[in-house]
Amino acid sequence: MDKIRIKGGNTLRGRIPIGGAKNAALPLLATSILTDEPVRFERVPDLADVSSMRRLLQVIGVEARMVAGKPGTMELRCSEVLDTTAPYDLVRKMRASVLVLGPLIARAGEARVSLPGGCAIGTRPIDLHLSGLERLGATIELTDGYVHAKAPKGLKGASIRLTMPSVGATENLLMAATLAQGETSIVNAAREPEIVDLARCLVAMGAKIEGAGSETITIQGVPALHAATHAIVPDRIEAGTYAMAAAATGGDVLLEGMRLELFGAAAESMSSAGLVLEEVEGGTRAARANGLRGSDVMTQPFPGFATDLQAQFMALMCIADGASMITETIFENRFMHVPELTRMGANITVQGNSALVRGVGRLKAAPVMATDLRASVSLVIAALAAEGSSELHRIYHLDRGYERLEGKLAAVGAEIERLA
Ligand code: UD1
Repeated sequence: MDKIRIKGGNTLRGRIPIGGAKNAALPLLATSILTDEPVRFERVPDLADVSSMRRLLQVIGVEARMVAGKPGTMELRCSEVLDTTAPYDLVRKMRASVLVLGPLIARAGEARVSLPGGCAIGTRPIDLHLSGLERLGATIELTDGYVHAKAPKGLKGASIRLTMPSVGATENLLMAATLAQGETSIVNAAREPEIVDLARCLVAMGAKIEGAGSETITIQGVPALHAATHAIVPDRIEAGTYAMAAAATGGDVLLEGMRLELFGAAAESMSSAGLVLEEVEGGTRAARANGLRGSDVMTQPFPGFATDLQAQFMALMCIADGASMITETIFENRFMHVPELTRMGANITVQGNSALVRGVGRLKAAPVMATDLRASVSLVIAALAAEGSSELHRIYHLDRGYERLEGKLAAVGAEIERLA
């Protein structure tokens, strides 16, 4: 199995192109189910999760192709829904497969989607997706590990209040409501930039949506959607990861295409830890001015500090001056990087959903193991700053969410290679 070897200690300097956001791309590709006309996406990241979504969409009847001569541009067309089932084998590999549920019921009046089950970072139920769809008039049955949702006469607009601003539930309901009869409101909706991006694309396809990015999204259903072209929002998690990698090595990088506002509160947290972040011509500059300072963070729904940046921030705090309290409020099992960071010399004590990190100045290389997508990249950051050569195993996790990771890091001065 592939592994990555990193020799730590090099300062990262230069430009890093930031791709389209994985978490925006996945629901965006699923919008292709909502119309029989072609939808075209620019800045589609070349990632294992995107390939998984593409495979699932193909099963459903979506023809997907990369547009010749336009790197990163994908065109999808669902002339007809051929199959309304998202099978276990595909959903098991990627939870975001559940995002076909809303579009499928809206377009075909029916969907059978395997229940995603637990995953490494927690149980992650989909009850909010299902109760929201019931409010829109779907009947839901759970049999043989599958959700079977039906709305043969179409969905009807309704007022839906989410008990938690779930990103996936907001996306599923937003997509479903575009073709429902009448008005739908999603109250306590997620406000992530990826939701705003999804709404922007749906509006370009002819949907009537107001309030995306705020607590309440209002959708007036329309009878049909049409063709559109949409450029995917930059990946704030990829950008934040490279910002912290640069800071960990005392570097200075330009995150090409990144807009500062997409970080939300993570920008303030990184600044109080000692990063300089500024929007400049062509993107956002991330550098370390002086030393790194211990700084507390608590993960929260956007605009709060993103749970998907928690592991990376912890890696940075391992080598900061002073202590940092990191509290995870979104997922219950998202400290799997702690034992691995500890193997590299970090001083971390976990109590419930908080981790107390005492800065140690310098980490030491060690063989480490990736456990999930964001945990694995925190080990890359730690290894870049550590003394000696580290080997990172189980890197298929990284390939799910980081496009050309070694290439991008090597281009700014890292000593990093993939070994077969
Ligand atoms: C999305 C992101 C993921 C990110 C997460 C939180 C994608 C593909 N993934 O995941 O990278 O870490 O947002 O920012 O965009 N919950 C319920 N019932 C539900 C749905 C969610 O209890 O029906 C809970 C979850 O267990 C979790 C919390 O709500 O504790 C947030 O989950 P959610 O926002 O839905 O995350 P995802 O959409 O799965």
